[in-house]
Amino acid sequence: MKPSQWWGLIRRKRAAPAAELAADALPRHVAIIMDGNGRWAKRRMLPRELGHRAGVESMRAIIRESGRLGIAALTLYAFSTENWSRSDEEVSALMGLMLECFRKEAEELNRSNVRVRVIGDTSRLSAEHRGEIARVSKLTGRNSGLQLNLALNYGGRDEIVRAVRKLVDDGVSSDKVNEKTFADALDTAGLPDVDLVIRTSGEMRMSNFLPYLAAYAEYVAPETLWPDYSVEEYHKSLAVYAGRSRRFGGRPAK
Ligand code: FPP
Repeated sequence: MKPSQWWGLIRRKRAAPAAELAADALPRHVAIIMDGNGRWAKRRMLPRELGHRAGVESMRAIIRESGRLGIAALTLYAFSTENWSRSDEEVSALMGLMLECFRKEAEELNRSNVRVRVIGDTSRLSAEHRGEIARVSKLTGRNSGLQLNLALNYGGRDEIVRAVRKLVDDGVSSDKVNEKTFADALDTAGLPDVDLVIRTSGEMRMSNFLPYLAAYAEYVAPETLWPDYSVEEYHKSLAVYAGRSRRFGGRPAK
């Protein structure tokens, strides 16, 4: 065997396809910062909107694969509280794309047994958006497959502030505030902790994403831009996660 073939074996061993991973080596909750749409478009001299459109195709593939693998929850960062500062043109393209996605994908998501929840402050979205969100959440609310969370107008600090306001408005006394009651006041109430955060395009920032739920998450930052992030790339990220030794601040958990 040639040395180049040995390297092939080593690489295969390091990045085992997720299909071969034991179910207990898979994360329960994956959260993804879908970064790089703009750069993807720029490299092709296309408008940024087309980068986001191409990003929707990756979203579709990763949602489908997450369901197929039996991952319990997938949270996608689609629009942050900071994204309003982008150009009017880009914000309106993203908002339009959001509506289009809800309208086009709702039935298919429902058929695939996916349960959809939107996290973030939806009060700043249009009535049309809120109507679609309510319709999709109701349509899929009783499904038992993948829990898909779309973060729309989401910011982690904003989520925490809204949770504190909720506790105060509900008259919860300070001795009743603990990690459980606080978590239950967040948009992510009832979801398992995030095990794995993936941020595409090589950037290594959390960008105000799920600060409470992802406190002990593993972080993987593939170089691939989001529109090029394929199921094979996803498998590689999951294999990296499976190889991590999680300590949760203490002794190795596995
Ligand atoms: C980050 O890439 C991506 C976003 C801000 C939006 C993500 C949106 C999608 C994948 C499209 C689907 C959206 C909805 C709402 C259904 P970037 O624009 O920051 O890329 P760059 O860093 O290369 O400029």
